[in-house]
Amino acid sequence: MLKEKMLKVLNEQINAEQYSAMLYLAMSAYFNDKGLPGFANWMYVQYQEESSHANKFFNYVVERGEKVELGAIKQVPTTWEGIIDVYEATLEHEQMVTGLINNLMDVAVAESDHAAQSFLRWFVDEQVEEEANVQQILDTLKLIDGQGNGIFLLDREMRQRIFVDDTLAAK
Ligand code: FEO
Repeated sequence: MLKEKMLKVLNEQINAEQYSAMLYLAMSAYFNDKGLPGFANWMYVQYQEESSHANKFFNYVVERGEKVELGAIKQVPTTWEGIIDVYEATLEHEQMVTGLINNLMDVAVAESDHAAQSFLRWFVDEQVEEEANVQQILDTLKLIDGQGNGIFLLDREMRQRIFVDDTLAAK
């Protein structure tokens, strides 16, 4: 059982996480098209992570005995002006998501929903990590300053990223 406002924002967050997943999938497609398989892989893992976030919210709404309402996912952008532009858009997007998670927490506090607060804490921590990871990549990209050698090496490093479903360990 969830209060109406809490259910509404949780359902909206499922949609927001699915939008994030599609956004990063589009970025993965963009990098594949640009001949950057490592960056494409990094974004594909990002897509998998966001799908797992959507699923975590989905399962939570079900666990609280409520009905999930899925809405249409907004069209995502499909092109950017280069690697830095992609990661700047990613950082901006994650900062926006942090705002959404904070708002969810505010609602949980206002509704005295202690269980939801406990559930949301995982996402509060996750957002700190997300923003820090993206910021670090952006810093490296700025240091490389578009030079071929640096991009080549970073792309090779990005190829190593694999998807680990942290949402399962957190349960
Ligand atoms: Fe689901 Fe990147 O936050």
